Amino acid sequence: MRIYKYKNYDEVSKVSAAIVIREMIKNPNIILGLATGTSPIGLYKNLIKAYNEYLISFKDVKTFNLDEYIGIPNDHPESYSSFMHRHLFNHIDIKEQNIHIPSNEIEHIENLAEEYNKKLFGNQRDVQILGIGANAHIGFNEPGSEMSNQTFIIKLSEETRMSNARFFDSVDEVPTHAVTMGIKNIMFSKQIILLAFGKEKADAVYKMVYGKITEDIPASILQLHPDVTIILDEEAASKLDMKSDFLEF
Ligand code: GLP
Repeated sequence: MRIYKYKNYDEVSKVSAAIVIREMIKNPNIILGLATGTSPIGLYKNLIKAYNEYLISFKDVKTFNLDEYIGIPNDHPESYSSFMHRHLFNHIDIKEQNIHIPSNEIEHIENLAEEYNKKLFGNQRDVQILGIGANAHIGFNEPGSEMSNQTFIIKLSEETRMSNARFFDSVDEVPTHAVTMGIKNIMFSKQIILLAFGKEKADAVYKMVYGKITEDIPASILQLHPDVTIILDEEAASKLDMKSDFLEF
């Protein structure tokens, strides 16, 4: 694990984008694993800027998103499909057929999760972007989710629903379930970049880095991945024992 601490959201966004841009220049056919939430929005803005400056192209890039809500239509403004189009896909030259987001069509959900899983195993992500929940969830792998899980349906914890209520009119509108890549899918990526901001993430970050590897702290599994870069702002890093702005295990 390499852990970097930067001053604020802007700096973290620029540095994380710089890593992704470097990988995209090296490999124009890159397969990216993408995340939603506030954390990667700045990273996506910087990728759009690099695209507009002709530094990178998404023409031959494939993307696989971590998760999607169940129970709201795809065109709902807070579906992760809408989120990704709004914050990234609408602004770049990616081909629609190269965008993959788990489908939430409830009638076929089990089959669709299985299908997504097959695609994930056939398309190992070169770079997987992650945020982290305040309870240390990654994707929507809530505490207690099995580490051996592949794409599956999860009942969201009340903590996660409360936290995501900021995107909806009220907590009652936050879906109760989601479909998410499992931990096993997330770990099946060559490189992982995790971003975290703000003091409400400080505990989760501490447990991810120093905690026992357990299903109660889903992000703790990342200690076992060979290539993880964690990029934090000062608040999210505030509980780590960082004498300098860089820490490596
Ligand atoms: C959601 C997403 C996660 C994300 C988390 C944190 O629950 N499913 O992938 O990491 O929120 O979001 P934020 O970056 O807004 O704090």
